[in-house]
Amino acid sequence: MSAKDQRSKVENQEKTFPVIFDKIACDFQRLPELGLDLLLSSQEVVDCHWTPPEVARVAAQMLVTKLGTRVLDIGSGSGEFCLIGALTTGGHFTGVEQRGHLVKVAVQRAQERGIREVQFISANITEISFRDYEAFYLFNPFQENLMPMLKIDSSVELSQALYEDYTRHVANELEEAPVGTRVVTYIGGYAAIPSCYEAQDQAFQGDLTLWVKH
Ligand SMILES: C[S@@+](CC[C@H](N)C(=O)[O-])C[C@H]1O[C@@H](n2cnc3c(N)ncnc32)[C@H](O)[C@@H]1O
Repeated sequence: MSAKDQRSKVENQEKTFPVIFDKIACDFQRLPELGLDLLLSSQEVVDCHWTPPEVARVAAQMLVTKLGTRVLDIGSGSGEFCLIGALTTGGHFTGVEQRGHLVKVAVQRAQERGIREVQFISANITEISFRDYEAFYLFNPFQENLMPMLKIDSSVELSQALYEDYTRHVANELEEAPVGTRVVTYIGGYAAIPSCYEAQDQAFQGDLTLWVKH
C-alpha cells in the first residue's frame, strides 16, 4: 500500500474511532489464548484506552531493532505498552504521561513485577525533547481533546487548541529526528506523522502501522 493510500485509510479510521474501541474491547477476550493475560489483570486491561497486550508485544518488536533501543511511549497511561515492551524485547522503554496518578500506577506495576528496562516520566509531552529516543509509540494520545466522550477522567484540561499544540509538537520533533527513526501508531495519531515518514509494515488488519523516516 502506498503512503498516500495508507494516509487516506487512516483518515477514515479516525472518523470511526469509537467503533474501533468496541473492537478492541472484544479482542480482550482472546488474552488467555495468547498467554499474556497473566501480566495484567483483566480489571487492569479492560479499559479500552490501553494497548491490548498482544498488540503491545508486536508494536514493541517493530520498534526495537537492537539491544537497548530507546523507545518513548507518547502518553503512556498506566504503562501497558512500556511494561510489555520491556518484558518481551531487549529495548529500553520510557513512558511520558500527563496524568500523575497513572504514572504512579505504572511505576508500581514495574516495581511489583521487577521490570527494570522501563521508566515513567510525569510530564506533558510538550516538555519532552525527542532527541533522547530512537523510536516512538503513539496510541492516539490526544484524541480525547476532540472527542469528550472518550475522555479518561476530568483531571486534565481538554480542548481542540491543546490537540493542535500537542500534535504540532510531536510532528515537529519527529521531523527533526534522524533518518531511519521508527514510529508505530495504533488506531490513530497519524496527524502527528510528518510526510517524510513512510508506512513500512502493518499488523492487526492495519490498526498497527510502522512508519520509518526516509
Ligand atoms: C489512549 S491512552 C494510551 C496509553 C498507552 N500509551 C497505551 O498504549 O496503553 C493515551 C494517554 O496519553 C495521555 N496524554 C494525552 N495527552 C498527553 C500529553 N499532552 N502529554 C502526556 N500525556 C498525554 C493520556 O493521559 C492517556 O493516558
